[in-house]
Amino acid sequence: MISLEDIKSNPVPNHIAIIMDGNGRWAKQRQQQRIDGHIQGASALKNTLEGCLAAGVKYLTVYAFSLENWNRSPLEVEGLMDLFVRYCHTEVDNLNKNNIRFRAIGKLDMLNDECYQTLRITEQKTEQNSALTLTIAISYGSRWEIVNAAQQLAKEVEAHQIKSEQIDERLFTNYLMTDFMPDPDLLIRTSGEYRISNYLLWQIAYTELYFTDVLWPDFTKEELYKAIADFQRRERRFGKTSEQIKDTAK
Ligand code: FPP
Repeated sequence: MISLEDIKSNPVPNHIAIIMDGNGRWAKQRQQQRIDGHIQGASALKNTLEGCLAAGVKYLTVYAFSLENWNRSPLEVEGLMDLFVRYCHTEVDNLNKNNIRFRAIGKLDMLNDECYQTLRITEQKTEQNSALTLTIAISYGSRWEIVNAAQQLAKEVEAHQIKSEQIDERLFTNYLMTDFMPDPDLLIRTSGEYRISNYLLWQIAYTELYFTDVLWPDFTKEELYKAIADFQRRERRFGKTSEQIKDTAK
């Protein structure tokens, strides 16, 4: 068993991104409705958030609803929207108590008015907090995000606000919805799927990937610490050789 003390004795990832997958299968295994899996998934998110806070992780970014998820049944989509609203209402005091800032990223204009307003109000109510930033990707798709950034830049070039030669990786990053966060150090995907599913494609260029068979509703702090411990055993080289990394560490 990996304890919090074990985790904290080594460098902890600054930013963890999670693809919370397997809610539907979790519900099916129990002859329950898909939404029951999502409700249990919200509870797993609370535990993970607590675990991240205790370990000293500064950014947690979770994939709650993809642009592709709009194609699910109206019953499931409405159930999820209600769940996001309820999560914000019930958790906002807790977020403030724990100094956690809440952010939402994605094509938010596709959300219903209640969900959109609730997310924005929760962002405003927590904007002074600084211990950890919890970002929920809702109605999010990475290719859309990148195309959107390219369109913004093209408009500014057309309006002569910037020159095309000024566009480099650094500037481009400022036009993504994630401009307020560093790139993830660790990406976790649950439920035994080995895909990225259009999540943070630009941002995970050098991110360590961790896959587990555990279904998201069963993901506990212990599972989180296992993922962090696995990350801590890896050597991140960013294209350099092992020897170069050891030299710079001297
Ligand atoms: C993927 O599992 C999960 C989702 C599409 C929804 C994620 C939402 C939550 C965890 C709810 C809590 C979130 C917040 C922000 C309160 P799936 O339904 O695709 O599972 P399956 O692959 O087993 O069918």
